[in-house]
Amino acid sequence: MKKLLAMLLTAAVSVSLIACGGSSAPASGSDSKEETQEEAAPAEAAQDAVSEALADGKLVVGTNAEFPPFEYLGDNGDPDGFDMALIKAIGEKLGVEVEIQNMEFGSLITSIGSKIDIAIAGMTVTDERKNAVDFSDPYYDAVQYVILPADSAIAAKEDLLGKTIGCQLGTTGEYLIDDIIAEDGATQKKSYNKAVDAVNDLLNGRLDCVIIDRNPAMVFQSNYPDQIKLSDGADFGFEAEQYAIAMPKGDTALVEQVNAALAELKSDGTFDKLVEQYIEN
Ligand code: ARG
Repeated sequence: MKKLLAMLLTAAVSVSLIACGGSSAPASGSDSKEETQEEAAPAEAAQDAVSEALADGKLVVGTNAEFPPFEYLGDNGDPDGFDMALIKAIGEKLGVEVEIQNMEFGSLITSIGSKIDIAIAGMTVTDERKNAVDFSDPYYDAVQYVILPADSAIAAKEDLLGKTIGCQLGTTGEYLIDDIIAEDGATQKKSYNKAVDAVNDLLNGRLDCVIIDRNPAMVFQSNYPDQIKLSDGADFGFEAEQYAIAMPKGDTALVEQVNAALAELKSDGTFDKLVEQYIEN
């Protein structure tokens, strides 16, 4: 009974969400009426689709709180950061309680659908991950950066060949190092569960550099402004990346509702406020 009520509630929320989305769509010129009608079709289809993950009124969210400013442990020991604030705001829009579970980054994808409903962890959309999960619309642009000792001579991709490079386990930074190793077998990789441990090994002289996403790299650099410097991975030929929320494969109702909530948070200014508060402060 409780479950049924929750399901009905979830359906009601999704309908009102979609209704809001429809009415706030920009009207453009004379054909705006037709556009509104076209938009109504998928909304009707979504009415009877109820997300399994949302059915119990609770969204269990996995993260790896080792990735400032997106997720880190706050002073009280609970995960905090941009992603945490964003997913709580999404939960509020969807009318569900959000419970955060902190785990290893490499365990997130395999835990979706069992230990957790979804994952938000500065997670880059990749084709390989798309085989295992569905992603929301992307919410943040990223690129890998290279963290270097302040006196390092490394300045281009060929300089990385044969070096000892650190990264966080299971991340796109690690995949880039694997590519470099494929090119030059003398290159060494050291993967860490916590990015901060990689940075510590860099400071201790055990690594030549660390490859990690831009914003965490900037946070680490601001902690050690005299000891380390940053290089933009674009100068090393690293491709642009995008973060998105990972969800169980095939739960299209969930993807639709999360995307609708994300779109609302963007249009009502909440998203930009969180960017200012957590990332660009
Ligand atoms: N963007 C990179 C990836 O998806 C690194 C993400 C690491 N996130 C974290 N919360 N530790 O592989």
